[in-house]
Amino acid sequence: MPNFTKLTTESELPPMDEAKEFPCGAKTICVANVNGVYSAMDNICPHRGGPLGQGMIEGGKVVCPWHGWAWDPKTGEAVQNPSAKVAVYPLKIENGDVLVEA
Ligand code: FES
Repeated sequence: MPNFTKLTTESELPPMDEAKEFPCGAKTICVANVNGVYSAMDNICPHRGGPLGQGMIEGGKVVCPWHGWAWDPKTGEAVQNPSAKVAVYPLKIENGDVLVEA
């Protein structure tokens, strides 16, 4: 059974075409808002550990603030290196709460 936990509230989500980081138990989750669609992924960039939630969104991808690798927030794949992947998590919004299965 999927096990969704509350990450934040809808009002705390990032504005259009921005990303933001949220604590989630022992992890930190990056939520990206691409054109009004929210996605959740691990906040730690697999390249060298940069904070993806502090990055920008360009062309629908989350760009790591450290060395500029771009990550697809839907699939977790890196544009620069398709074999590199960050974990992505199902996200849903219910009654103003943002829930992730992480
Ligand atoms: S740590 Fe993210 S691109 Fe290098």
